Amino acid sequence: MVPEPLLAQFSGFLAARIGLHFPRERWDDLERGINAAARDFRFGETEACIRWLMSSTPTRSQIEILASQLTVGETYFFRERRTFDTLEQSILPELIRSRRGNERRLRIWSAGCCTGEEPYSIAILLARTIPDWRDWNISILATDINPHFLRKASIGVYGAWSFRDTPAGIKAGFFRRTTEGRFEIHPAIKALVTFAYLNLAEDGYPSVENGSNAMDIIFCRNVVMYFEPERGRKVIQNLGLSLMDDGWLFVSAVEVSQVVSPQLRVVNFPGAIVYRRSTRWTTAENDLAAIPPWAPVAPNVSAGPANLDIDEEPVAALPPGSRQETGRASRPERKQREVDMPAHTPYRQASALYEHGRYSEAAEATLGLLSRDPNDAKAMALLARIYANQGRIADAFEWCDKAVAADKLNPGWCYLLATILQEQGRPDDAVAALKRALYLDQNHALAHVALGNLTRRRGKLKESERHFRNALSILRGYRQEHVLPESEGVTAGRLAEIIQSTISSEAWT
Ligand SMILES: C[S@@+](CC[C@H](N)C(=O)[O-])C[C@H]1O[C@@H](n2cnc3c(N)ncnc32)[C@H](O)[C@@H]1O
Repeated sequence: MVPEPLLAQFSGFLAARIGLHFPRERWDDLERGINAAARDFRFGETEACIRWLMSSTPTRSQIEILASQLTVGETYFFRERRTFDTLEQSILPELIRSRRGNERRLRIWSAGCCTGEEPYSIAILLARTIPDWRDWNISILATDINPHFLRKASIGVYGAWSFRDTPAGIKAGFFRRTTEGRFEIHPAIKALVTFAYLNLAEDGYPSVENGSNAMDIIFCRNVVMYFEPERGRKVIQNLGLSLMDDGWLFVSAVEVSQVVSPQLRVVNFPGAIVYRRSTRWTTAENDLAAIPPWAPVAPNVSAGPANLDIDEEPVAALPPGSRQETGRASRPERKQREVDMPAHTPYRQASALYEHGRYSEAAEATLGLLSRDPNDAKAMALLARIYANQGRIADAFEWCDKAVAADKLNPGWCYLLATILQEQGRPDDAVAALKRALYLDQNHALAHVALGNLTRRRGKLKESERHFRNALSILRGYRQEHVLPESEGVTAGRLAEIIQSTISSEAWT
């Protein structure tokens, strides 16, 4: 038996690091979970394991093991059917109409996707609703903290229990029966969904780099109900910032009370409550003085070990979503990094607006900076980020391209350009931009990681491993907590962990 005071302390630790809330009534569950996790960590004594875990900031692999034992994996296709009816009948028609004839682009995020039933249900619904869906640029980002769930999701094979409340015809229309009597999702539907690890309690979002920006629709259902209330509210607020103006957020009916966010307004549909991002702000929020005077650090050329194995052969095209696996510093780390910035410069004010998701105002302030100095590459790149977060991807490209032209020796702008090009579905151009970033700075760890991810997905495992190993060797030259330039908050230690777990999850040949 773990002593109660220690369990109480550990429950606070979990709330801070994973978001999970274990009130006293759930301490039995907590004890069962941590007993199992202690075995995974090869501790004979649970108490010693708890003390060890709490003695330092947990690594990603520690969080993954804890999440594997402590998260709830209940889900099924078309769960809470009325939500999907609302999406199909009331939300998608208007959204599709507004995009048809324009860029025919839809971005959806299933945050806390579990074993994949939710994002695949969304993908199926889109395929049913949009007759020419194959000609659209549809991306469904599906993230979770539990690596076992993510693995199962990306396999995409399910038993009958996952279909316990599924409309007729779905199984026959979108799944293939396997020889074991299970059901495998159709490859074309599967291809719409990108699975990635993201800890909603700690990782940074919205972010152009991990693709969590400019969402039209976010599903985050049956997730924050397990969170400590304050953390749950923070998560909802950040998800609100990941939405486009007028984008939609779905939570489950029991989580409605946790949605307290100035940028979200409630919209009632028959049988479903949905939240919509509103561009209107309260007077207090419009007060610039209320914004803490911190802003992203300006990208610069990073230093690190030389003599790297830079690729000589051409790299394959970048697959969608390959930038997904960046581990970002938590918000507190980001702020810490930013305290050194000179206070109250116009650039800093503009970036603070951007950090707060006040994109229209941020764009206006940045355009003001550019009218004073039309060659300010840093302002151009900020404007590109703002537009990317607003979903104005063509404008984002234009300004980032200008930043690259105005400041030709800065690898950071090339890296940002690559992420925007990926979002535009231009993988070959993204590869070229990443290679240019590496030409300018062979120690650009993030560019190596992006190339590692994309070659891995193309099955070029050797080339991919080479990029990952290069990145690891560069990262060894930094302190763990060093925040990488133009990463929007990724620390060296965090990125190294992500690469290690990617490498170890692959059978390198
Ligand atoms: C009950 S399932 C909900 C699945 C799906 N959204 C649904 O409604 O059917 C909750 C999911 O949230 C995930 N989760 C818990 N804490 C998380 C965190 N801090 N970051 C990301 N996902 C988390 C769990 O791993 C689990 O897959």
